[in-house]
Amino acid sequence: MQGRVVYYLDGGLLIMTVQQIKDLETHIRTEKLPVHIAIIMDGNGRWAAEHNLARHEGHRQGVETVRSTVRYCNSLGIEILTLFAFSTENWQRPVWEVNYLMSLPEKYFQTELPELIKNNVQVKMIGDQSKLPHKVKKVIAEGAEATKDNSGMILNFALNYGSRAEILNAVNCLIEKAFKDGKINQISEEHFSRYLYTKDLPDPDLLIRTSGELRVSNFLLWQLAYTELWFTDVYWPDFGKLELLKAIDAFQKRKRRYGKV
Ligand code: FPP
Repeated sequence: MQGRVVYYLDGGLLIMTVQQIKDLETHIRTEKLPVHIAIIMDGNGRWAAEHNLARHEGHRQGVETVRSTVRYCNSLGIEILTLFAFSTENWQRPVWEVNYLMSLPEKYFQTELPELIKNNVQVKMIGDQSKLPHKVKKVIAEGAEATKDNSGMILNFALNYGSRAEILNAVNCLIEKAFKDGKINQISEEHFSRYLYTKDLPDPDLLIRTSGELRVSNFLLWQLAYTELWFTDVYWPDFGKLELLKAIDAFQKRKRRYGKV
């Protein structure tokens, strides 16, 4: 089996050789790549259960997949990668799991920051920072500061992110501004977008969700209006080059009409 990747498809077994994956990569490089890919990284717990491991092992392996996905997206020339790492709803998990998830940014940046700097990656974060533990804010701020002059791929972590909270925050900012200015103006979609956490970023072109769940779970609800959606049954710790290439290949075959004919 050396030199081959095994890929399971609807109960049938399809074997792809390394060469076939290379060919797929060469092919997708000839077409227009999605500028911004957003990923809901799901299935760490089920991956761990299937391997008879404790849940945190799934998250630990999930960090490895973050590492490899960031490297591969960067090497392909993806301009923005947004990763949903912790939602506003994830605080409801057991305390030990919340604490473990909150330790991951530090683990990741400790080993990865020098490479991110070297590879010209820019680190950003979206979400409500105010409720994050000090060490998480610190490590993200250090990552952002150390990479702020980089001009390559933007690696955008969604941490304590919830889309409804983001939209409400924008509305509240606008109300506050209207009070201060003493006047209420009609606002456009473009104007509203400037009050979202993603104000400096274009909307995602492609959303990937792993683990077979077919929902967007309060992620980028405003920004996903015209995003192409792609779902895979593969759990996040098993997400690799082939899955990413398949998602991009599917994206490149779609006709994006934006409501036009
Ligand atoms: C969902 O899987 C995953 C999460 C809530 C956490 C995702 C976080 C990572 C993959 C690592 C983040 C890395 C950094 C560097 C911040 P789940 O636990 O809900 O899986 P399940 O639905 O199978 O139980």
